[in-house]
Formats: sequence, structure tokens, C-alpha cells
Amino acid sequence: MIDLSRARACLGREAILLPDPVPVHPLLEGKKEIGRGEYSIVLDKGDGERVYKVISSPADYFLYTAEDRPRGKHFPIVHADHGIIGRALSGYPLHLIEMERLYPLAEGSPAADLAMRLIEFYWAGCAQWSRLGSSMGRIALYHLVQQPLDVDQGIHDALKALSDFVEEYQVLPDILNANNLMMRKDGTLVFSDPVFIA
Ligand SMILES: Nc1ncnc2c1ncn2[C@@H]1O[C@H](COP(=O)(O)OP(=O)(O)O)[C@@H](O)[C@H]1O
Ligand SMILES: [Mg+2]
Repeated sequence: MIDLSRARACLGREAILLPDPVPVHPLLEGKKEIGRGEYSIVLDKGDGERVYKVISSPADYFLYTAEDRPRGKHFPIVHADHGIIGRALSGYPLHLIEMERLYPLAEGSPAADLAMRLIEFYWAGCAQWSRLGSSMGRIALYHLVQQPLDVDQGIHDALKALSDFVEEYQVLPDILNANNLMMRKDGTLVFSDPVFIA
């Protein structure tokens, strides 16, 4: 079993939470914060189906809005781009995205088991390419999709789409953190937040 906290420390991805307050915006008034990460704040829209996600990372903005972003059943459905609604303390603009509501991986579920296997494959790749420094994750993902993996075709296609996106937009994969892999109500594994910018 891999030591995830060690893995994240090696990649310089220690858990830090975005310190910014929720920006004042008519769509966000009275909405409950249900998640926060290093670059984003997630608020419940209240309809049981969608969330508002305030994002500060350009990598996330590309991932959720680019014409050629990865799509398909393992990527989140984005319903609307509500534009720039403020500026983060980090200096990046804050974009408001409306997207499908996802759920944490239920322990012991097939999606959680699959996520752990993917994280282990990816981490083994990172260990192999660690001498490449900051390119390690990108190269590890690239090589992962070149080799036959014991996963179904849909997951393989999703990894390939993610790798192509990472190369095209020069962002870095961030799939070592199980928080970045979520599931739908029906149990489908979703790469909810698989990229970042160093
Ligand atoms: N679509 C979503 N539906 C519900 N909760 C979400 C959704 N996306 C993210 N979250 C929650 O918000 C937290 C932070 O989101 P994440 O996408 O990882 O942001 P960051 O870019 O800050 O890493 C996640 O750990 C998760 O708990
Ligand atoms: Mg995240």
C-alpha cells in the first residue's frame, strides 16, 4: 500500500486550503459551502443535482471550460461558466462554474477500489520518473497510458484524454489525492479535479 501523505509531500502537494472568503455574488447568496481545497470553494446549489464551484486555478478553468477539454463518463459535467466574480489573494481571477454535484468515494465501493488502483499505478510511475523533477507526473501519466493496464476501456480512454489535455495545456496531473477523484450517485468514478499548475 502506498503512503499517500508521503507521496503528496514528495510532489510538493501538501494539503493547504484556499484562504479566501466566498466572493459576494447573487448566485452564491445563502448557499452552503460543502467543500474547499487548495484552489477552489464548492457550494451546494440546493437542487440536489448541481454545485457552484469557485475556482482560482487556471488549470481548473481550462479543464472545465476549454472546447477540447476531456469529456465522457469519467469527467465532470459542466453546466455553465458564470464568468469572473472576483480575485483570489493569490492574484488569480476567481471564476464561477456550475457543475454536477459529485460525492466522496464511498469506502469499499468499486469506484474507491478503482481509484486506489489508479493512484498506485500512477505513483509507481512517478517513482520511476522521479529524476525528471517537476515533469515527473506528466511523464508518468504519459507512460501509464502507453502500457496495457488492467482497467476497462473507458478508464483507459479517460487517462489518455487526461494525458493529452495535460500535454496540450502544459498543466500537471493531480490524481494522487483521492479527494480529486469522486463518484456519481450511480457509482461512476469521476476525475473531478485532476490537474493543477505548479
Ligand atoms: N462537483 C462537486 N460536488 C461536490 N463536492 C465537490 C465537487 N468538486 C469538489 N468537491 C469537494 O470540494 C473539495 C475541493 O474541491 P477540489 O476540486 O479538490 O478543489 P481544489 O482545486 O481546491 O483542489 C473536494 O475535496 C470535494 O470534497
Ligand atoms: Mg483538489
